[in-house]
Order: sequence, then C-alpha cells, then structure tokens
Amino acid sequence: MTVAGLIVLDLVAGVTATVAWLGSGAAAAARRAGLALALFCVAVAASLARVGVALALAPAGWWFVQEKFTLTLPLLVVAGLAASVLAAPRLVTAVRGRGDLSAAVVIPLLGAGYAAVAGPAVTLLMGYPATWSTGLVTVALVAAAVLVTWRAVSAPVPGLRVTAAVTLAVGLAGVGLAFVPAETAGTTETGGGPPAAMEAHAMDTHAMGAMGAGASSASDGGHARQGRPVTALRGPSTPAAGGEVRRFTLTARTATVTLSSGREVAAWTFDGRVPGPPVTASEGDLIEVRLRNADITSGVTLHWHGYDVPSGEDGVPGLTQDAVMPGQEFLYRFRATQVGTYWYHTHEVSDRGVKLGLYGMLVVTPREAANEGADLTLPVHTFGGKITLGDHDQPFEQRVAPGTPVRLRLVGTDNTPHQFTLSGTPYKVAAIDGRDLNAPGELSRTRLRLPAGGRYDLVFAMPAGGALLRVDDRATSLRLTPDAPSTPAPSAAEDTSGWPEFDPLSYGTPSATPFGAGSRSDRRFTLVLDQGLAIMNGRPAYAHTVNGHAFPSIPTQLVREGDLVRVTVVNRGRETHPWHLHGHTVRVLSRDGRAPAGSPLLLDTFDVRPGEVWEVAFRANNPGMWMNHCHNLSHADQGMALHLAYEGVTTPFHGAHGG
Ligand code: C2O
Ligand code: CU
Repeated sequence: MTVAGLIVLDLVAGVTATVAWLGSGAAAAARRAGLALALFCVAVAASLARVGVALALAPAGWWFVQEKFTLTLPLLVVAGLAASVLAAPRLVTAVRGRGDLSAAVVIPLLGAGYAAVAGPAVTLLMGYPATWSTGLVTVALVAAAVLVTWRAVSAPVPGLRVTAAVTLAVGLAGVGLAFVPAETAGTTETGGGPPAAMEAHAMDTHAMGAMGAGASSASDGGHARQGRPVTALRGPSTPAAGGEVRRFTLTARTATVTLSSGREVAAWTFDGRVPGPPVTASEGDLIEVRLRNADITSGVTLHWHGYDVPSGEDGVPGLTQDAVMPGQEFLYRFRATQVGTYWYHTHEVSDRGVKLGLYGMLVVTPREAANEGADLTLPVHTFGGKITLGDHDQPFEQRVAPGTPVRLRLVGTDNTPHQFTLSGTPYKVAAIDGRDLNAPGELSRTRLRLPAGGRYDLVFAMPAGGALLRVDDRATSLRLTPDAPSTPAPSAAEDTSGWPEFDPLSYGTPSATPFGAGSRSDRRFTLVLDQGLAIMNGRPAYAHTVNGHAFPSIPTQLVREGDLVRVTVVNRGRETHPWHLHGHTVRVLSRDGRAPAGSPLLLDTFDVRPGEVWEVAFRANNPGMWMNHCHNLSHADQGMALHLAYEGVTTPFHGAHGG
C-alpha cells in the first residue's frame, strides 16, 4: 500500500476506533450488553489496526508517525488496556445475564473513546511535529472528559476536586507552551521597538516577515550599514556581447476578455489580454520590462517564474520591492541567460491575481535558433470553471505542414496539475521547466501530468495524419492538421484515459552532473508539509503548514553564498504541493529514496504528492532574499510559504507580504 493510502487508512481506523469505543460505552450505559460487547470487539480491532498502520507507515519516515508514536498511540493503548481489564469481563458477565453494567464499565469504555479521538484529532489539527504543549493539552482534555463522565454517571467521586485541579493545571501548562512561539511572533509583529533593538536581529524579523510596515523606514539606515540591501541586487543595464535590448511595457488593468468561444470573462490583465503579451528574447539579450499599474487596486508586481534573476528583480512585494499601486510603475531588467520556457505573473495577492489573469509567457530561444518550424506556447488555465489553452476555451486547430519540426510548450498556470495527452505521433519531452533533458527517448500513448507552475516542452516532426493534444481528456484540445485538408483526422475518438503516466524520474539518459546524491552539503533543511492549527498573520487559523508553522512564522532558511544546500520536502498531508523556490534551479536527488534513473532533473517546481519525500539540492549562487513556497497559490496564501535568505542581505521592506 502507498504511503498516501496508509495516511488515509490511519484516519479511517482512528475514526472507527473512536466511534466504536464511544458507542460501546453508550450501549453499556443504556444497559444493552450485547451491543456493547460487539462494539467493544470492533473498537479493539480498530485500535490494533491503528498500531499496525503506524508500524507500516514508519519506514516511510519518522515525519509520518511522530505524533502517533510519541502521543496518540500510547494514550490509546493505555486507555484501551484499562477498558479491556476493567470493562470487558463485566460485559461478558452481563451478556450471560448476570451482573450489572455499572459506572465501572461505562467510564473505562468512554475513556478509551476519548483517548481514541485524540488520534485523528491530533493528526488533523496539529500535524507534525507534536510538541510538549500538544501532548499536555491532549492528555488534560482526555482526563477532563473522563472526570466529567465520572461525575455524570456515578455518585460523588472521592478526590475529584484535587484531580480536577491537577487536570486544569496540566491543560493550562500545555496551552501556555503552545502560545510561547505565538507571543514571540506577536512581539515582532508590532515592530515598534527602537531601531537598535531591531538591528540586533534584523535578519530574523525581516526573514520572519512579521515586522510592522511603520518600522521599516526607521530601520533603513541600519540596513545600509550592516549588509547589502536586496534593492541593490539589480540586473545589469546592458546585454551580453552580441545581444540586444528587448523593451516591453506591461500595463496591469482590469478588462473584459473574450475567449475563443465568445464567452466574456471579467479579468485582471496585462494590456487587456489574457495571457499577457509574451516576453521573448534570444539568449544574451537584455530584457527590460516596464510594469505599469492602471487600476489593480491591490497592487501588482512581476515575478519571473523559474528565471534566476537578481534578487532585486524578483518581484516579491514586501521583500524585494513594494507592490506597484495604481498610477505607479517599476522597471525590471535582467539578462536572458537561461534558454527555454518560463512564465511571469504577479506576486501581490498572487492567488487571486494569477487566477484572474495576471500572467504571461517568457520564452528565450538560443541565439542561433533556426527560425523554422511551429513553436506554440500553451498555458493551461481555468477561467470561470472552464479549462483554457491560451485564450481557447474550445477545441481549436492549427495548420502545420507535414514534416515541420513542432515544439509545444506546455505551461501550468493553474493551482493544480493538468493531464496532457498527445496522440497521432511519437514525441519527446525535450525540456522540463525550461531546462533541456539529456537524450530524451520517444514517447507515445503516455499521460503527462504537468505540475502547477511547471513546463514541459514537447517536440516532434509534424505527422502526415495530424496530431491531437488534449487536456484532462476533455473539451479543450489543439488539433494540428496538415496542409492537405482532405486527410482524415486520426485518432479522433482515441480513449486516452487508461494511458500510463509519464515519470520524469525515469526518462532520458544519465549524465555527469555538478553535484550528485553522494556529494556532501553545507546546509540541510527539512520541510514537512501538512495542514493544522497555526498562527497565521497573528491569528490562529487552520493553515497549510510547514514544520507546524504558517507564514510568516516559518523560520527562514539562512544560507551563505557558495553553499551547497540540500532540502528534504515531505508531504504528510492529503493534497499535492507543487514546491517552488525562487531564484535557483534545484536538482532532484531522490524521490521516496530513489534517485532519478534517467536524465538529471533540474527543476524550479516539483509536485510533492501526498506521502512523498523529495530530496533536492541547489547551489546558493544568487545572493538575495527569496520566497520558497507551494505553487498552489491558495495554499501559499493559507500559510505555506517561507523565505530563503543569504547571510548579509537585508530588505528595507516590511516583509509581511510575499504572496
Ligand atoms: Cu510562480 Cu513565488 O511564484
Ligand atoms: Cu500546496
């Protein structure tokens, strides 16, 4: 069984155990001995199943079972054993028609039920890691519930007051512990301290992103003195030798866009178009983009997704610049050093902004590119529930002469992955996330699952019979038809739903890489992705968490220029998290302990599915302050984002936003 399956099974067993223990206690209280005994047996079985599932899950990593082994299973085992010893013999006697179902039977059964609730409750609400405070609160709550039950079902309990007082104290201690980190965050949030105090830990406060906006100007002088401000890390103003300057102006504004079907959608756009105008260049050119904001009242920026620009050009509001408000503008400049398929999007309220259309394509071609062939950029996006390719919300056609080299650049601009199938021709995935693969082989009858934010470049020679690219096996599709109009369309009704899924980790050919799985690293970080209660922007929320925290309280990853950094990303949750680090290309070392068997994989966005463990590495060669976040932008919005900062780099901005 898969890790994701075991995670679900653990919850199912936990809920079953809870219902059965509580039901058994309730049946005993209602003097229905037979039912109580039957439910008792179910409860024991479900409790044992939880232990078994946890043991099966443990080899996948301690992250998946930590709260079970340290807290909820011991609690369940103790309470379950107590119930078995105290209640089971009396239940059996009662079923035989002798004896009575007194409080001595009901209380242990219900007590085991309260202990059983803790399993799914801690897993769902607190996640990883379970802390001392979680443990204390959980134990106190279970004890309190037992006491209340005792009080309700029997005569006055000796020593109840003392026990109640102890329980209350334990619970309060737990709550107190839980709020220690919250208070720390709260202190930095006010940001009203004297500049001297802030300088002492300026890195921390900025990195935490929690410092009040009002304090930023007061501390500007301090930053200039103590390190390089991120605003000084800007791109060059000239192209590389032989390159040209490519100038673009993008004006963000609200507009009604018309999709290919004629449907009108109220959108946030660049230049009134969705996707925005393409930014294109040849390798070595200088890309200069003037961003203007006409009427996007929440502000806008441009982030160059997957493009390792200097930090000051990265477009993260509150970290590398202030959001560009209506009437304002910002000039971005960077060299086209990476060839391939990328995209740009706003990073201010990016979940809403990107959804509504503030994105476009960034494509850089090799300088000596032969300018022949069909080169199509196909961003997949959801507008008002309809899946679109570019601005097509209906099947569309493109004429291509047989034999023509074709490149289809698939770009995932949605929050969730999409499935592509290409039929009618074998093809190669030439590049992923803009980076060429080594000696990719031919594919056919394969499903391509494109992560949110990711890109696949498909190449093939146009077949005489035409080719069909479909998204999610459904309505939206692109048919490439040869010039001869009479050729019958091939594979029109081909069922693609059963095609096996493409795995980038076993595609292409191995080759020497700058740093392999064995190389030593200077820094290691682990990011455990989950959902749970956390303090988000000063308030408790059910957040998408990293190591139990939510933005801006997730500790910043601090690196030094030149470091080889290794990052383990673990998904303990029930949703896919497309992980994205700004400013760096990561190399995949392993997924679930297995290294890529094919081409080296250099990515900027990788899907960490439920139960998966990815290990990636990157060279810290782009000083600055960077976002590191889930590219399901609504997850990022709900806490799943943190910063990566280089020692000695500071930001003059408040840092409270970033998404
Ligand atoms: Cu494509 Cu931080 O984003
Ligand atoms: Cu996510």
